Amino acid sequence: MTNPNHPFLAACRREKTSYTPVWLMRQAGRYMPEYRKLRAEFSFLDLCKRPDLAAEITITPVNRLGVDAAILFADILLILEPMGLGLEYSKDDGPVIDAHIRSRTDVEQLQEFEPEEALSYVMETVRMSRAALGGKVPLIGFSGAPFTLASYIVERGGSRNYLLTKKLIYSDPGAWRALMERLSTAVGKYLNAQIAAGADAVQLFDSWAGCLSPDDYQKYVLPYTRATIAAITPGTPVIHFSTGTAGMLKLVKEAGGDVIGLDWRIHLDEGWAAVGNDVGVQGNLDPAALLAKPKEIRWRVEDILKRAGGRPGHIFNLGHGVFPETPVEHAIAMVEAVHELSAR
Ligand code: CP3
Repeated sequence: MTNPNHPFLAACRREKTSYTPVWLMRQAGRYMPEYRKLRAEFSFLDLCKRPDLAAEITITPVNRLGVDAAILFADILLILEPMGLGLEYSKDDGPVIDAHIRSRTDVEQLQEFEPEEALSYVMETVRMSRAALGGKVPLIGFSGAPFTLASYIVERGGSRNYLLTKKLIYSDPGAWRALMERLSTAVGKYLNAQIAAGADAVQLFDSWAGCLSPDDYQKYVLPYTRATIAAITPGTPVIHFSTGTAGMLKLVKEAGGDVIGLDWRIHLDEGWAAVGNDVGVQGNLDPAALLAKPKEIRWRVEDILKRAGGRPGHIFNLGHGVFPETPVEHAIAMVEAVHELSAR
């Protein structure tokens, strides 16, 4: 069993901790030689579908970096397969989704599914990771938030300007709402299945919400994210993460979450003031800062900790995922700096 008073979980509840807990988004990934070695033999999707290997990748950063939480090795896009969409990860272009969702009828073709069955391999990875962690640190489950998933579906992959997504919102709001409703329900069920399998906390990644104006976010995204978060099994902390949303943090907070993710485009104290002190915050070192020398990393960590001011409810993290170019020693230096400089 995971200790419910572990500093990571205590910080999610905004309780005092003896140091600031820290983990890194995308910590289980391509910057790690252990991961690259496995990837030489297996495709990314194959790794996700091998719970024994996925659990091994999940726990590697805990031992290697000394972080205070593990995040499940999986991907936000895995949920698209049981919806009946094709999913591939190409070498150069990232994820490629075989979908044609342009109307309400298209949305109605999407399949409904039971996550325990259709994504049983993810649940098995949760169970195996929990067993392998032996209660050492909490395990974070995750999903894409409805908007970010919808953008991948409509764009059929990543995008620079999200023009197809915005065009659908503006030209056929009914179809858009139908799609967001589907995703909102599916994501809630998926996260609850991860919690039932043993996830101690969950993070919702709304990575690309920042492409929207505050008004469009409020009208076309917020209600669906809010419904997802409201459906999460009570008692499990929810981290609500997004990027590029410094100008609409109040709305992000309104959608819900015990902890709000902040990217590096805003000072941590200003971001915390914007979301209010009735929630925790997670962040917010620029992931590129890990390319700097450890001494430089240390003073940047110190600045963020100063801005947090020792207030309960801060989880240290990057403002977005760790870059593949990051030297592992620099990630270790960051974790050590957080632990040392925040000890109280
Ligand atoms: O945090 C972790 O280490 C846990 C695992 C995890 C992955 N993806 C593994 C992965 C998590 C939490 C994600 C989330 C994810 N996936 C997001 C949201 C976070 C963010 O960065 O904004 C998004 C947008 C995706 C979609 C996705 N998956 C893309 C765009 C890509 C290709 C580019 C990239 O980032 O690597 C992936 C592939 C992916 N997901 C890899 C890993 C380890 C790399 C696969 C490989 O080995 O080639």
